[in-house]
Amino acid sequence: MHQKLNWKEFADKNELESILLQDIVDISNNAIKKNGNFKIVMAGGSTPERLYKSFLNIQNQNFSNWELYVGDERCLPVDDEGRNSLMIKRSFIDHLPEDLKPKFFPINSEKGSKEAANEYNTIVDKVNRFDLVLLGLGEDGHTASLFPEHCWDNQLNVVPVSNAPKPPSDRVSMTPKAFLKAEKIFFIVTGHGKIEPVNAWKQGEGIPASKIMSDNLIDIYCNFD
Ligand code: 6PG
Repeated sequence: MHQKLNWKEFADKNELESILLQDIVDISNNAIKKNGNFKIVMAGGSTPERLYKSFLNIQNQNFSNWELYVGDERCLPVDDEGRNSLMIKRSFIDHLPEDLKPKFFPINSEKGSKEAANEYNTIVDKVNRFDLVLLGLGEDGHTASLFPEHCWDNQLNVVPVSNAPKPPSDRVSMTPKAFLKAEKIFFIVTGHGKIEPVNAWKQGEGIPASKIMSDNLIDIYCNFD
């Protein structure tokens, strides 16, 4: 399978975010119309936080039709500032009234990477389709918690990660197998530090982000300010 990439480079970060938001809205509306729900895998890290806050500006959206999954999680206490699930709750979910909150499937990484990965693997095994997967890109070319020089069991949808070069060293991550369930994959790549991994990716270096496959075009929203 060959990675089919659609580079969307924006000179203005605000333009990237408004177009990205509208593209997500279009996918969610179509998914809800077709299947009655919208299943989205949320990216971790700092990049998507503004985007998640902007979800609250979407008009006429019943988020209770949304199902949120997490592409990866750091093995930290539940209330630790570094938890991706906490960032998602604080930027988006916690601002919604109870009856309009999405169904949220956090990775319970406080249980330790192995137990949490087994538990989440069972959840993802039962998902036939993700309507959208959001992913970030690390400066070393990692995505989710799939790091260079690491190997992962691609027979599984979710794996434990140890010795991660980006702290904390213990994590849990979806694998390329899980991302194959995606109808659509968006990478969100912003900041000057991402120029290098993007160039490596374009030059065909085998960074982990290049291992993410899809039957459809993978859209990469970039701004390097
Ligand atoms: C994580 C993320 C990770 C992130 C990239 C980019 O848990 O660290 O899932 O894959 O997306 O490292 O991080 P920034 O958005 O903070 O640059």
